[in-house]
Amino acid sequence: MALLAELTHRCPLKCPYCSNPLALDRAADELDTDGWKRVLDQAAALGVLQVHFSGGEPMARRDLEALVAHARGLELYSNLITSGVTLTEARLAALVAAGLDHIQLSFQDVDVASAERIGGMKGAQARKLEAARLIRAADVALTVNFVVHRQNVANVGGMIALAAELGARRVEIAHTQYYGWGLANRDALLPSADQLQAATAAVEAARPVHAGRMAIDYVTPDYHATQPKPCMGGWAQRFINVSPAGRALPCHAAETIPDMDFPSVREHGLKDIWERSDAFTRFRGTAWMPSECQSCALKERDWGGCRCQALALAGDAAASDPVCSRSPHHGRVLAALAASDAPPPPLLYRASR
Ligand code: FES
Repeated sequence: MALLAELTHRCPLKCPYCSNPLALDRAADELDTDGWKRVLDQAAALGVLQVHFSGGEPMARRDLEALVAHARGLELYSNLITSGVTLTEARLAALVAAGLDHIQLSFQDVDVASAERIGGMKGAQARKLEAARLIRAADVALTVNFVVHRQNVANVGGMIALAAELGARRVEIAHTQYYGWGLANRDALLPSADQLQAATAAVEAARPVHAGRMAIDYVTPDYHATQPKPCMGGWAQRFINVSPAGRALPCHAAETIPDMDFPSVREHGLKDIWERSDAFTRFRGTAWMPSECQSCALKERDWGGCRCQALALAGDAAASDPVCSRSPHHGRVLAALAASDAPPPPLLYRASR
């Protein structure tokens, strides 16, 4: 259904929960304009309906307008996932003229000092607020996204209020996922059970206030759950991610799986990758599942949870997701949660390329 086109890993921000891999693709290795157009053609032919232009910061690509126009020509719904810090009125007008359908604008916090400390960029908040104003003035559908964690989770009520003030149609309050840089900073970011409870109460209190005007999406942290989430809607069932250098992945963190080869769109067609590659077929469906998943009534609902989390916590991408209370590795999640009551270590900031 969806293609995540990670156009670049370049980004002016340094968020410590970034889902990009620890080893970032270099600008010189990025797919060129024709390469991305070919990917869009093949995605549309395969039945993809939506393309999310992401990064890094996708605005760093000068050909973004050309790619949006190409997506529009293929009747793909296009979404730009951006930090907004480099958005100008002229660039936005060009993107709208090219046919951009939707913008997802990220904020690090509602408190300015906290937001700029987390994002590692001074002056970023004012630029983001201006970006939101420009987007609404251009009448482009706006989703405001906050990634929350133990260092900003107390401000969830204020985040939702800010999104409403900015005219967002949707606000996402998404707890950090622990892959890539998020995993490297897990002990500094994982909220305690009390923090999570307070945040959930703030979301529930806000829902009736904004009902009918702004949707509130709330993603809770996996580690506090006892059942795993159906990560990506099931491995290679609805989603293709293409990295800046052109590797096709079933999810953004898949490259952490050491014994898996990820085919390049420079050498293979997306249809072939989707139908035949080991990367896309190994964990699709239920045949690969361990016995505790095979015997579970929910196996076609959660699809065994998250393969990258199984790798990160159990050391084996084919293990059951340790978030699940039936997993023999569930104790590792409980140990990580125990650390969330201790003082947080310093944040490790991602490096830009
Ligand atoms: Fe890779 Fe969940 S992030 S399967």
